[in-house]
Amino acid sequence: MSATSTGKPANQPFGGYYKPADRPVDDELARVSKGTPCGEYLRRFWQPIMMTERVGVTPLALRILGEDLILFRDLSGRLGLMDRYCSHRGMSLEYGIIAERGIRCAYHAWMYDCDGRILETPGEPPTSRIKDTVCQGAYPVVEYKGLIFAYFGPPELKPEFPRLDMMELPDNEMLPWQIHSPCNWLQVSENSMDPYHTPFLHTRMSGTQFEDVWGELPVIDLHDREFGFYYTNARRSGNNIWVRIHDHLVPNFSQNGGLFERGEQIRYFGRSSLTRWVVPIDDTNTFVIAWRNVNRRDDPEGRTKRDEIGWEKVDFYGQSVHRPYEMRQAKPSDYDAWAGQGPINSHAREHLGWTDQFVAQLRRRIRNDIRTVQKGNAPEVWRTRNGMPTPTHAGDTVLHIPRRNQDDRQLILDTSKRIADAYEATQNLPDGERRKAIEEKLAPLNV
Ligand code: FES
Ligand SMILES: [Fe+2]
Repeated sequence: MSATSTGKPANQPFGGYYKPADRPVDDELARVSKGTPCGEYLRRFWQPIMMTERVGVTPLALRILGEDLILFRDLSGRLGLMDRYCSHRGMSLEYGIIAERGIRCAYHAWMYDCDGRILETPGEPPTSRIKDTVCQGAYPVVEYKGLIFAYFGPPELKPEFPRLDMMELPDNEMLPWQIHSPCNWLQVSENSMDPYHTPFLHTRMSGTQFEDVWGELPVIDLHDREFGFYYTNARRSGNNIWVRIHDHLVPNFSQNGGLFERGEQIRYFGRSSLTRWVVPIDDTNTFVIAWRNVNRRDDPEGRTKRDEIGWEKVDFYGQSVHRPYEMRQAKPSDYDAWAGQGPINSHAREHLGWTDQFVAQLRRRIRNDIRTVQKGNAPEVWRTRNGMPTPTHAGDTVLHIPRRNQDDRQLILDTSKRIADAYEATQNLPDGERRKAIEEKLAPLNV
């Protein structure tokens, strides 16, 4: 029998009094500011920080990884990301005047280039050496398909810009979206490593939010891979076996299966509907910053709702606070699950079970990588090989395999392993060739 810190049994009915009063925080995973173990680890990766469309004619004040920043586009079209507070006497540069080259502080007109160099200090005497000895803290940025990415780590350790296969898929449109949640980043991120919430939260508890077939407890199989994990999430759909694959690359990246898949038609290697990062704003606020992938193959009926994708919105249920509270209570969804854990979930107060094995594994992996960085070593950072983008697997395959006189869950698991093998064996091929090779390998499994 487990006991509370008071020595009283933890399972005492009406024993609320004996529960600990505090909710201790797992600081190693939760804290993201500069100098914290997790903050230093996250700073070794490029992170998306903002949708391009949010950068207008005035500087944008934002906070990422606990740092107060401004993001702006100067008049020559270059982006600048820098410490919000001016190096002179700290006025916020959100009131700065954007210039042809960089930005000028409104207080005493010091002018900064996009890389933080001081170009002018007009009130100082000509002999002043301030501008040669001081730099405003600035970070490199890259604009890609409607999202702005930044690197916050030591400049000499900057990794290559991420190149995932989904980012270069032919005939695929990538629509950016970004949504705030008032809670710690890990709560949002580990929801993607919790496939067992789907039959409950999204189906049985409050009515079908996606498809009825999601109400069945899926057969899950986790695979370690370079840079993180992927898992197969498989279920029966009539006479078909439907296998969704989900990518989770550390530290904070995931890709789902298709949004409109029902498992009714045979198909091979559908691709991910979401290419998604979970980016800490600070310890208790988080952005999901992502692309909705839109293409004819994965949405042949044209069900994507383009005007519902963007700032603080995406075209599927339950990802933001923007629903009436009554609706959130009657039909809670992902946002309510992660934000409902409070500003920072207390791992010490949880009771993890069998369905939490992947969440536990993700935490272990992240903790391990954080400690690698703490010891002065390099974490495993996404890389390209031989000029090819990093392969990912997320998406759906559906095969016609009716029940047999055997344990159906075992049949589903065996099928999902065959599919995973086919995906891995072809992962170094370009998209078209990979698609063809996967079909050739899997088509014979249809009954
Ligand atoms: S505070 Fe910015 S120039 Fe003086
Ligand atoms: Fe979910």
